Amino acid sequence: MAVEQVSSVFDTILVLDFGSQYSHLITRRLREFNIYAEMLPCTQKISELSWKPKGVILSGGPYSVYAEDAPHVDHDVFKLNVPILGICYGMQELAWINGKQVGRGEKREYGPATLNVLDKSDPLFANIDHSTVWMSHGDKLHGLPTGFKTIATSDNSPYCGIVHEKEPIYGIQFHPEVTHSTQGKQLLKNFAVNLCHANQNWTMENFIETEIQRIRDLVGPTAEVIGAVSGGVDSTVASKLMTEAIGNRFHAILVDNGVLRLNEAATVKKTLVEGLGINLTVVDASEEFLSKLKGVTDPEKKRKIIGNTFIHVFEREAEKIKPKDGQEIQYLLQGTLYPDVIESISFKGPSQTIKTHHNVGGLLDNMKLKLIEPLRELFKDEVRHLGELLGISHELVWRHPFPGPGIAIRVLGEVTKEQVAIARKADYIYIEEIRKAGLYDKISQAFACLLPVKSVGVMGDQRTYEQVIALRAIETTDFMTADWYPFEHSFLKKVASRIVNEVDGVARVTYDITSKPPATVEWE
Ligand code: XMP
Repeated sequence: MAVEQVSSVFDTILVLDFGSQYSHLITRRLREFNIYAEMLPCTQKISELSWKPKGVILSGGPYSVYAEDAPHVDHDVFKLNVPILGICYGMQELAWINGKQVGRGEKREYGPATLNVLDKSDPLFANIDHSTVWMSHGDKLHGLPTGFKTIATSDNSPYCGIVHEKEPIYGIQFHPEVTHSTQGKQLLKNFAVNLCHANQNWTMENFIETEIQRIRDLVGPTAEVIGAVSGGVDSTVASKLMTEAIGNRFHAILVDNGVLRLNEAATVKKTLVEGLGINLTVVDASEEFLSKLKGVTDPEKKRKIIGNTFIHVFEREAEKIKPKDGQEIQYLLQGTLYPDVIESISFKGPSQTIKTHHNVGGLLDNMKLKLIEPLRELFKDEVRHLGELLGISHELVWRHPFPGPGIAIRVLGEVTKEQVAIARKADYIYIEEIRKAGLYDKISQAFACLLPVKSVGVMGDQRTYEQVIALRAIETTDFMTADWYPFEHSFLKKVASRIVNEVDGVARVTYDITSKPPATVEWE
């Protein structure tokens, strides 16, 4: 039986990406209305799609439609006979195809504008008028495209909204996908529901059902699957889904690299095996990792060593797993999420090759396994919701991210067992206090770093000369930019006092008040 794609099971709005930094938000907004949307590069050949979209959105983009190397949509999109919405560049593309009346604007328009809807009966603008819309364009329409009429204007854009006289083909100059467009979400919903008649059935409850079936169809009745787990939300959710689909034919491996959080390996084992029924093998390779890290202080070298050693250990352990029925392991599970997929397909320019997604550390290249990625259509918040539906605890589902190289990049300088023990203990106390204060879910990521400097202190009557712990806590939506979290002074006082008193080897605690940029989240 052929394995169905999500886009052939759920009504799908196809977003063709012309390279705007906002393109992925279109997909995001539609999903918030339980409408499944998928993004593909603008160069997608329509005849190569194995499913039919309910509607197509042409995104914005940084190019000029009239430029020689400008990207253009496959004209077969018009043969689909489904509603089309062009946003910014997407609208200019529609105009270019229908009369070429596009050129440079007198000045670039960037910022808010007020939308004036001329045809209030048009389904695209249902419940929308005089709202603020967000503009970001240098080119504009110099006239109406052939066969179109104007349905909305703004002070600077006489063709702010247009529609074809006979077909449901729309163009808008503004960006409904950004939150600055106050009723932008409503407009996207109007397009998908009123015009495309897309079913609002994209829920994680429905996804579980179809995904489990999809995994079963793909893997078949006998094949075995292997995957690495880290204790983080993505690998746990992916593993639980695999277990629901194929039971013990899924083999999870947790590699203890010696730089995990305090008690992490034991905690993950308890949660995954006892709590979630996942077939898990824990491999203690901490000595191997730590011996390879001996004498290394450069952060990038630490990352490389940990990545390479991980592959080595994982492959060695995978070899040892011999399924009872003599089957070979055929698939490798990977917790790839939709933002990774989007990044790999994102259209960067007609002359540039489109990036392919690199699987973590090259495991796949070495192991000659086929890849299985059950979360590749999901955004992070969808994964969290899915996790909760699969019975994974709130605490795990909302866990802060933890970097692959772990505490090795939070022990500045050389990584030794002793240094890791200090950093771990301080981190444990810090996170415990954050949880006790009810702040964990308000903070995006928090951790302690051990600095390779010594500082003078006094304990009782004794002079001490010991190391410094730096605490970091940030708030962010995307981890590209971040602000430090404004703790109450009393909270910091309590944590500092506990760490100095309870962790041998620490004489002083500082709090990092640097944003990203210019700093990064991690210290190394
Ligand atoms: P930075 O330090 O780059 O961190 O501002 C942004 C986010 O990425 C995480 N991070 C990593 N995750 N391997 C990972 O798996 C790494 O080498 C790595 N470096 C940083 C960091 O924890 C934060 O969430």
